[in-house]
Amino acid sequence: MAGETHRVTLIEGDGIGPEVAAATLEVLDASGVNIEWDRQLMGIPAEEAGRDVLPEETLASIRANRVALKGPLTTHLRTGFRSVNVALRQELLLYANVRPAKTLLPPPRRYDDVDLVLIRENTQGLYTGIEHYIDSKKNAAESIVIITREAAERVVRYAFEYARANGRGKVTIVHKANILKYSQGLFLDAGRAVAAEYPEIPFDEKIVDNMAMQLVLDPMQFDVMVTTNMFGDILSDLCSGLVGGLGLAPSANIGEEAAVFEAVHGSAPDIAGQDLANPSALVLSACLMLEHLGEQEAARRVRGALVSTLREGRHLTRDLGGTLGTREFARVLAERLPQAAPA
Ligand code: NAI
Ligand code: MG
Repeated sequence: MAGETHRVTLIEGDGIGPEVAAATLEVLDASGVNIEWDRQLMGIPAEEAGRDVLPEETLASIRANRVALKGPLTTHLRTGFRSVNVALRQELLLYANVRPAKTLLPPPRRYDDVDLVLIRENTQGLYTGIEHYIDSKKNAAESIVIITREAAERVVRYAFEYARANGRGKVTIVHKANILKYSQGLFLDAGRAVAAEYPEIPFDEKIVDNMAMQLVLDPMQFDVMVTTNMFGDILSDLCSGLVGGLGLAPSANIGEEAAVFEAVHGSAPDIAGQDLANPSALVLSACLMLEHLGEQEAARRVRGALVSTLREGRHLTRDLGGTLGTREFARVLAERLPQAAPA
């Protein structure tokens, strides 16, 4: 029986974006979920079509559909210096960037049982784009960090609600309040105040440099982590490295009005257009999207097909030591889906 039809904005992106998006759509198609894709442009592809880098129509589509699946977008644009990815998160107030990192590959790995979720403040911090040269000779520059109590509380509260809803054991707030006493100090203060509202959930604090070392030494000691924009950007790539790299790292950008699902990786210009990209990160992002849409059963089946394929190890893309191209890998997943055990 056909279920509800979901209308979702699709932004393919550039670089490897169109390849991993096509692969993901093939897998979603095989899952049997009814999705009506509303294709929209952003970034370089939008510019090439003579449009704005972040067209009003694209924003309106996401606001209307409330859900988008997005491929990566190259950020060194000719016009303006603000990243179009960052701009989208700010425009739609997608305040929490949820980045799970879970071991899916078979042992022996450096760590066989990583299961982390990093939640990154997504609209402020050092990524507000407020930057300028201080002198006329461009020999000194200044970038402004913005942190508001409201945004800090909102993202830390999201982390605790996420921990509660998903039965997670601990929330770690990552900061640098020892040096950046005002901006990071405010984030930590706000975080402590919110933590006090959740006495049943264990809470700890780590300074970011120590956190980087601790994550490499023993990632199993952590569970949910919450931090400011740039620390979250860097630590989430570190976490993806603990579980097999950017080819396996999904993310969700959550706001009150909308949610945008995208891989952690970028447009990978070094391998674009060569059928070399691993589409798993976008497929896993699509699983987060299916859960958000209430399609839990389909999400478990898609993840099941992916996890069994990775575990078995015979059909892998090149980043994971295999020989399969993007398209062939997608075909394997789509063919396995009907029989796949949920994961
Ligand atoms: P990147 O993530 O595109 O690539 C880093 C390395 O990982 C490269 O060697 C690449 O080949 C490899 N890689 C990435 N995704 C892969 C996949 N699915 N399968 C196999 N290998 C993969 O990071 P880079 O090179 O720093 O950025 C390229 C562009 O992407 C930049 O313009 C950057 O600003 C943009 N970017 C966009 C993001 C977004 O749209 N959300 C996120 C991160 C970067
Ligand atoms: Mg990044």
